[in-house]
Amino acid sequence: MKVFVFISIPFLILLLNPRVSSEALSDGEPEHASFPPRGWNSYDSFCWTISEKEFLQSAEIVSNRLRPHGYEYVVVDYLWYRRKVKGAYTDSLGFDVIDEWGRMIPDPDRWPSSKGGKGFTEVAKKVHSMGLKFGIHVMRGISTQAVNANTPILDTISGGAYEESGRKWSAKDIGIKERACAWMQHGFMSVDTKLGAGRAFLRSLYEQYAEWGVDFVKHDCVFGDDLDINEISFVSEVLKQLDHPILYSLSPGTSVTPAMAKDVSGLVNMYRITGDDWDSWGDVIAHFDVTRDFSTASMIGAMGLLGKSWPDLDMLPLGWLTDPGSNEGPHRRSNLNPDEQRTQMTLWSMAKSPLMFGGDVRKLDETTYNLITNPTLLEINSFSSNNMEFPYITSMRDSKGRDDILAWLSTRSLTSVEISDTHVLGLTGCMNSKAIGWSIQASDQDPEKICWKEKLGSKHQAPLCLYKRGSLLPLDERMTYKQQYEGKLHLTATDRMDSCLSASSNQKLTSKEFKRGALLPCRWDTNQMWELNFNGTLVNSYSGLCATVNDVEAQVSSGGTRSWIATGRRGEIYIAFFNLSPAKTVISAKISDLVKVLPSKNLKGNSCKCKEVWSGKEIAVTDQTISMAVEIHGSALFVLNCD
Ligand SMILES: *[C@@H]1O[C@H](CO)[C@@H](O)[C@H](O)[C@H]1NC(C)=O
Repeated sequence: MKVFVFISIPFLILLLNPRVSSEALSDGEPEHASFPPRGWNSYDSFCWTISEKEFLQSAEIVSNRLRPHGYEYVVVDYLWYRRKVKGAYTDSLGFDVIDEWGRMIPDPDRWPSSKGGKGFTEVAKKVHSMGLKFGIHVMRGISTQAVNANTPILDTISGGAYEESGRKWSAKDIGIKERACAWMQHGFMSVDTKLGAGRAFLRSLYEQYAEWGVDFVKHDCVFGDDLDINEISFVSEVLKQLDHPILYSLSPGTSVTPAMAKDVSGLVNMYRITGDDWDSWGDVIAHFDVTRDFSTASMIGAMGLLGKSWPDLDMLPLGWLTDPGSNEGPHRRSNLNPDEQRTQMTLWSMAKSPLMFGGDVRKLDETTYNLITNPTLLEINSFSSNNMEFPYITSMRDSKGRDDILAWLSTRSLTSVEISDTHVLGLTGCMNSKAIGWSIQASDQDPEKICWKEKLGSKHQAPLCLYKRGSLLPLDERMTYKQQYEGKLHLTATDRMDSCLSASSNQKLTSKEFKRGALLPCRWDTNQMWELNFNGTLVNSYSGLCATVNDVEAQVSSGGTRSWIATGRRGEIYIAFFNLSPAKTVISAKISDLVKVLPSKNLKGNSCKCKEVWSGKEIAVTDQTISMAVEIHGSALFVLNCD
């Protein structure tokens, strides 16, 4: 919808805001978020309780110690407007400070410089004087408190109350009670962006943030399960019109798919692709599948609001922390062990995620500091390209390791779906020849079957087949979705038609809710839609990855190992091995397989120099292979320079 008229807004802001200079966005202007944004966010260490004093202390340390490494944003996370008094907590109602127009303003007890209607102006000034940029967290729409108080709506163009059709509009007219934020029911609700008054309200918020000097907005409860595309689109329009550039970030990203992200990535600069990440090992591994899917869908560094956009894997909960939803500040160490922390930081870097450190910088220990400022990781994070999962690794374990893995596979499976006692279905890139081998089996019987080429395992076994399921859509809706549906199949592993093959655990990706990718109740979901290509590959509509079949034996050896690759700006190649399994594992990659995925490289192993980052050792490339024993939950990171 292009019905909004903005002509006078930039001028108005120019009058109101001394920080806005005449340098309007022009061709010469630097792009927004040309690199994955980097900074510090208060949530993991303070939850909502941070004060101005604590925030500025932290900013000072970020400026001195982390800014030289590219950490430039300092972000106040949620509820800076909530009074920190008895009875107030993360979903309490009635403790927020709002202005006469129903807008959130900083709690003056926690943020004393905000007194006298100054909002965050003084804080932003101090942050800027430290050479940093200032960010805030905001919620969807309008607060329940403003709706209950039925505050009038500010028309920033006239400077008075918003009037239309001969009457003044107020909060009750625009708040949609049925669309309360699902995870903060008492706090906030969507506003109706079809109403001029709804749009005027949102505009009055973001113009005020620009006046305060805010450089970064983390907009919460509008994406993932809480998707509100109207609000995101309108806020993006408002931000585009501001002379003061504001980076636009969406959070959280529970149940996000690349298809959903494609509708918003051009409107924003970063967006979460998982639920909240905390310091548990389950949270770390929950990022591998979804991150692979977003890189496969070419979403890393895609076009964004006035620049680029980045899939965001969430803050780094390392060092000294608090707990989710807590009323307490930092009081405990991160639960991730050093191997797990390196694995997290390596995946975040290889996937070019924004890096927002979450720990208390006032108690930043040397190990954590060295990890988050590791020059190789930061080089990869900013400057590498062709970042993707590398599917061609092999893994080996001794007999104890194999027993550990068998036990582990019986409780969970990260990459595979068991479709019989001896076969597991795995996912791989569609260019991999291991993905070829699916065909429709000629038969007069219903339902039709799609079978894998060979009888794996025992010679006497029946071929491995999946059953085609009829359309899940009612006839009248099939027309509407014709394009999406054509050629796409739902597949079941038995002729019972209630469970469908799902490619990814497209569920709430938090440790609590992590589910094995599996046979799930059949539903209209791209994760369950497959297409048979002419060359015999079976591609999944959600991730673009192809199905392959392994026997359990092969699965045991590959179980729980992953790899990512990327190329550097000087032609170097980065390879990361991840051992997500509970047994020490030797992981190997062949130089000749690198060539399969990297753009036209003529690599010869014996001309390559290879250095492993964590050990600091030069690694010999023998038999055209890079190989290393990787600790439980650990990673290896190689820098490969070939002539
Ligand atoms: C098979 O065909 C698909 C679709 O045309 C293509 O993307 C894929 O790379 C092919 N895979 C192989 C191994 O030839």
